[in-house]
Amino acid sequence: MPPAAAVMGTPASAYQGALLAEARHADTVFMMGDNPALPKMPERPALKDFFLLRFGRISRTHLLQSARVARENGLDEKVITACLLHDIAIAGLLPANHGYWGAQMVGPYVDEEVAWSIEKHEALRYFPDESVGYTYPAAYIDYFGPDYNPPDYIRREHETARRHRWYMTSRLVTINDIYSFDPDVVVDYDEFEDVVGRNFRQPEEGLGFDGSPVAHMWRTMIWPNNFL
Ligand SMILES: [Fe+2]
Ligand SMILES: [Fe+2]
Repeated sequence: MPPAAAVMGTPASAYQGALLAEARHADTVFMMGDNPALPKMPERPALKDFFLLRFGRISRTHLLQSARVARENGLDEKVITACLLHDIAIAGLLPANHGYWGAQMVGPYVDEEVAWSIEKHEALRYFPDESVGYTYPAAYIDYFGPDYNPPDYIRREHETARRHRWYMTSRLVTINDIYSFDPDVVVDYDEFEDVVGRNFRQPEEGLGFDGSPVAHMWRTMIWPNNFL
């Protein structure tokens, strides 16, 4: 069952009625548990399991590549961690408003500054900062067209973030963001196991089962196809 918000206005919004009709057959049930089409997650999943078993290849490579560039640029571990996590909402949950979703997903497990910079990178990406060599990404002209204007709430977010003491941490996420996707680059997650160990508090019960206010977001990635 695709999420309602993702199918509104598309032919796929008719799925609900079709699936409900199908469920009336005695031998048919909705999916409520492991989807056999997906790799099985361990009982107590850690961040690495989501990277390897749930995130798509393009997103996974993008995150690992951004973190690698941040490390090569000699940035501190907060920035490397933020780069490694900045697009995890796109990778496994929801692309729209991904900075905000991503910040919430990792909020209980990382330094507040890391979560903040993930949230704000969403707005900062659209606005150049010549003083640190950040220009509007050429890729966005392809993605959104030459006339795209970010909405007012994004402009306000940018202005507020700009005055914040952690501005540069979030700005560094946008600077180390890799806007050109090179499918041939391979980066091993294990390169960052040490950084993750020091900067991401993995819950003992596993992500999705620690009773935190964001556990449901991780469970949605473990069982993305559950009917309810
Ligand atoms: Fe992003
Ligand atoms: Fe990104």
